[in-house]
Amino acid sequence: MPRGRSRTEVDPRRIACLHAMGFPAWARRPGSVLPGAPPELRDTTPATRAPAAEDAGSDAEVGSLEWDALEARVSACVLCPLHAGRSRTVFGVGNRKAEWLVIGEAPGAEEDRRGEPFVGRAGKLLDAMLAAAGHARSQVYIANVVKCRPPENRDPQPEEAACCAPYLDRQIALLRPKIILAVGRVAAQRLLQTDAPVGRLRGKIHRHEPSGTPLVVTWHPAYLLRRPEAKAEAWRDLVLAMAAAEGA
Ligand code: URA
Repeated sequence: MPRGRSRTEVDPRRIACLHAMGFPAWARRPGSVLPGAPPELRDTTPATRAPAAEDAGSDAEVGSLEWDALEARVSACVLCPLHAGRSRTVFGVGNRKAEWLVIGEAPGAEEDRRGEPFVGRAGKLLDAMLAAAGHARSQVYIANVVKCRPPENRDPQPEEAACCAPYLDRQIALLRPKIILAVGRVAAQRLLQTDAPVGRLRGKIHRHEPSGTPLVVTWHPAYLLRRPEAKAEAWRDLVLAMAAAEGA
């Protein structure tokens, strides 16, 4: 039980997410009686709580967690409905001292099975792109905007991304990369808080806030698999990212 929080209180981060998703944050107190309800309707459910922060061994704010505690917190997360359909969370992988942070959208089926981002065909292409820029997969850090697989591989909803945002923010703060490479529309729009298309966002060096990290947008490797002719543009984005990382 987190210090200072009673058994019947709800995790405040969960309330924030429920608000973001448009649900009233309402919690019934075990043992409570609905107004006007006869005594037989008294709730006799044993007091329960959502599995939350403490399952990761800590009730500290996400913004103060170190890597392992953060990963444990993510793996226990039930803040949005995506948790119900996951096989496992996909926290992120790579060098925790990396200069390059690659951020994609969300785990797909293969990632959900293996617990690692970008392991399917798109992942192979991402590895080749990084290699062309002089980086082995193990040298960079790779994460996604959301840590659980959306059903049918649909785009993550803004509310789901909002629930995951503190985790990604903390990953960025811990890593302090020289460059963020946002791959694809979902990552780019989320990280830059815009609804502009990738075609308008790529080709320049942005700044991620609040970290102040230089950020370059490029096409998602899954898109490049469908449109190989866009690979030349992706290469130009990587050259720009290399320059931005050098200048950082
Ligand atoms: N796999 C991921 O981990 N992220 C994506 O954005 C796509 C595939």
